[in-house]
Amino acid sequence: MFESALPVAYVAAAILFILSLGGLANQESARRGNVYGIVGMIIALVATVFHERIESYSVIAGAIGLGAVLGAILAARVAMTSMPQLVAALHSFVGLAAVLVGLSSYLDPGAELSGAAHIIHDLEIYADVAIGAVTFTGSVVAWGKLDGKIGGRPLLLPGRHLLNLLMVISIAVLAVLLVRADGDGFNFLLIMSAIAAVLGIHLVMAIGGADMPVVVSLLNSYSGWTAAAAGFMLENDLLIVTGALVGSSGAILSYIMCKAMNRSIWNVVFGGFGAAPPKGAPKPAEGEPGEFTEIQTTELADELKAAREIIIVPGYGMAVAQAQRSVDDFTKLMQKRGARVRFAIHPVAGRLPGHMNVLLAEAGVPYDLALEMDEINDDFPKADVVLVIGANDIVNPSAMTDTSSPIYGMPVCEVWKSTRTVVLKRGRGVGYAGVANPLFFMDKTRMYFGDAKDSMDKLNTALKA
Ligand code: TAP
Repeated sequence: MFESALPVAYVAAAILFILSLGGLANQESARRGNVYGIVGMIIALVATVFHERIESYSVIAGAIGLGAVLGAILAARVAMTSMPQLVAALHSFVGLAAVLVGLSSYLDPGAELSGAAHIIHDLEIYADVAIGAVTFTGSVVAWGKLDGKIGGRPLLLPGRHLLNLLMVISIAVLAVLLVRADGDGFNFLLIMSAIAAVLGIHLVMAIGGADMPVVVSLLNSYSGWTAAAAGFMLENDLLIVTGALVGSSGAILSYIMCKAMNRSIWNVVFGGFGAAPPKGAPKPAEGEPGEFTEIQTTELADELKAAREIIIVPGYGMAVAQAQRSVDDFTKLMQKRGARVRFAIHPVAGRLPGHMNVLLAEAGVPYDLALEMDEINDDFPKADVVLVIGANDIVNPSAMTDTSSPIYGMPVCEVWKSTRTVVLKRGRGVGYAGVANPLFFMDKTRMYFGDAKDSMDKLNTALKA
């Protein structure tokens, strides 16, 4: 009876996962999307746990219990700014699970296979283990880099492309040897796992700087493909569908992020962005090319009281300072004074896709005030005051003018076209890309120094006075 209900459960879970992805595409429906995902996952888990092939529940109950407790603790503790590390760590589990399941599936195939079916099964296992090993070690390195445990600069070994090519060729040759071994090629599988693991480490070690979040998204995609390969190996349709959904959505997200930074995906994977500058090259100077003009709280509050059109450009610093609630208070204060306040959201502001939208939604800022950069970029000349809150790279004019800049070509919020641009940051720190920002030295720009939350609170107090 349960066996006949299984395909229905799988189809229901797959539909819910698709609805979940659709829901997560925008803020209004994101909560609903999450609920669809949770319900889909519960159905998938229940259907899997009650599968007729399961013989003992004690190990499964222990694993689910431990996983659920660890997952809940991690999710409750993680700061929004550490989310990329958490995601990278979770991908490493998917990779490791794929390797372990693949190896055990080779040792105990379950059914007697022969001829083409046997070859196909071996290749499914091979693909699962290979992608799983790359995902596992690549994700561990990505976690280490994002968490500051490993240096952020790319490791660029001489002949690294050749090294990668040799490893890929060895993996392909070992696949042939495995198929020829006709069920007796476990050692080939182990050797290949070791090579794929080194490949994963080497690929991600060579990536640095602002490209790391794209790498996390790419690893997300790999973890999906490894799950899909495991689905073929285990003849589990739901795993195939879910793996393909994760694999393709991760690939699409990587593409969207690369497009928003004007970088090609190949450039990210092989480019070594953020490498140490050559000896003798000028440092990415924090203070040049001129002097900052500071503004004090009372003067800024007076300018804001007179302003009718205000645009806020939030960035990574707003997330670090957890200033979103103070920014919401500011918005309400200014609206009460009759000003129009809107937000310009750059597609790669912060460190996660949708990072700023999530923070603003958490603070209760109405969705219709947060506009995509493309929707609002033409309105900057009409703004009386633009507040750049903890953003740097995404408002850097040299991305449009300086062909030698590493971020040249990245679309940016053209804040300097407003009557007054006020930048809230703590000091002379550069942004993620590590490049100087001429915006800070422009005539119309004023620097309002301090932690973004403290600054917004001081400003709110002055506006109320
Ligand atoms: P960033 O360029 O990283 O600049 C953040 C600024 O915030 C820094 O200059 C820092 O200056 C300031 N800051 C830090 N803590 C602060 C605090 N407590 N209070 C006030 N200011 C603070 O951020 P962004 O403009 O949002 O740009 C995002 C970067 O990440 C881009 O380079 C983008 O390409 C990259 N990236 C993002 C993504 C996604 S999906 N979002 C993906 C890949 C890459 P001080 O130290 O002087 O305060």
